[in-house]
Amino acid sequence: MATSFSHFSSKISVAAFFIFYSSLATSISTKTSPEAIPFKKIYAFGDSFTDTGNTKSLSGPGGFGHVSNSPYGITFFHHSTNRYSDGRLVIDFVAESLSLPFLPPYRYMKGNGANGVNFAVAGSTAISHSFFVKNNLTLNITPESIQTQLLWFNKFMERQGCIGSASSSPACKAAFDGALFWVGEMGVNDYAYTIGSTVPNETIQKLVISSLTGFLEEILNKGARHVVVQGLPPSGCLPLALVLTSEDDRDNIGCAKSVNSQTQNHNMIYQTKLQDLRRQFPEAVITYLDYWTAYHTVMENPARYGFEERLKACCGSGGPPYNFQVFATCGTPSASVCQNPSQYINWDGVHLTEAMYKELADMFVNGTFSHPPFSELLGKKLRGD
Ligand SMILES: *[C@@H]1O[C@H](CO)[C@@H](O)[C@H](O)[C@H]1NC(C)=O
Ligand SMILES: *[C@@H]1O[C@H](CO)[C@@H](O)[C@H](O)[C@H]1NC(C)=O
Ligand SMILES: *[C@@H]1O[C@H](CO)[C@@H](O)[C@H](O)[C@H]1NC(C)=O
Repeated sequence: MATSFSHFSSKISVAAFFIFYSSLATSISTKTSPEAIPFKKIYAFGDSFTDTGNTKSLSGPGGFGHVSNSPYGITFFHHSTNRYSDGRLVIDFVAESLSLPFLPPYRYMKGNGANGVNFAVAGSTAISHSFFVKNNLTLNITPESIQTQLLWFNKFMERQGCIGSASSSPACKAAFDGALFWVGEMGVNDYAYTIGSTVPNETIQKLVISSLTGFLEEILNKGARHVVVQGLPPSGCLPLALVLTSEDDRDNIGCAKSVNSQTQNHNMIYQTKLQDLRRQFPEAVITYLDYWTAYHTVMENPARYGFEERLKACCGSGGPPYNFQVFATCGTPSASVCQNPSQYINWDGVHLTEAMYKELADMFVNGTFSHPPFSELLGKKLRGD
């Protein structure tokens, strides 16, 4: 996989991913009545799987430089909102589910952010940009990292009159009060940018996890009490990974085996670090969202969730089996869009359709792919713990 990816890794910035579903999802569904909605706002972080408009065609990941154009957004907004999908993302469905408005992107904010802000940036990394500079891996990559997002968060808090932690002042208390911290999947880009380079995947794994753990420690120290953390998706199921790996590198559902086992292994180690953080911050609820298993569950039985196409991108070029070509991605003149995006899991070769994001959001919030269950997070908040 390493060598076949190397040629492309600097050209394509993979943004982020998601997906989930559970056979148990419906039976265990947590009914959250509107009057019991406990959160006043969401502060979100992440990459293109979570970005609701912090990047545009020219400032986003190089390989997906047409996000500001049609057909992005066709299904729900009917125009591009600079989301990397045909419609809403997981974070949008979560906001709706909590009776909150869609989160404004920090860079182009309208309003005062009273219901939260989205700091996620498409193409951004968990490891700081200087690491990629030092390793000569900067061609065409997004310079923002999770550290940038933390900086933006701190600036936003300062504007609310909050310098320091939740307990430093009444303004800080208000800014943290009723806040859900949503830490979307990050790390996919770090791996993608270094494929085929001399940097070993073990190094990336270690650095991504320590960077994210450091970020979480920082927000928990400041006073975050309700934190949701997504693991990595099975990125070996994305058309990008499939066209760049060899035909014999496949698992039982047709995804790139090496990539999926790497992300699965990454998630296992990440979860042990989350366990340490739970011990360190017993007053906080840290919920892990198992993106990998949820997405994989849908892939195993797509028809059950209304999907007909598992591996083929809805918007792209080249036709079957993946309808994905690295230099003619969605939004370019040679790409076209499918008739029925809701029957596809994949939107543009890397990002998912609104239909898939909707399933995943439901699996996270109402299903069994959240540990501890999302309902516990809500319950604890309502009791005022
Ligand atoms: C990065 O490129 C410079 C200039 O070509 C070279 O001197 C340096 O050794 C390279 N660094 C790495 C880590 O490859
Ligand atoms: C790194 O990649 C190699 C080759 O694909 C694989 O065997 C190994 O398990 C990977 N290591 C990690 C930590 O994912
Ligand atoms: C969870 O289930 C409730 C009740 O069926 C539904 O209104 C809500 O949209 C679901 N949440 C998500 C994120 O799908």
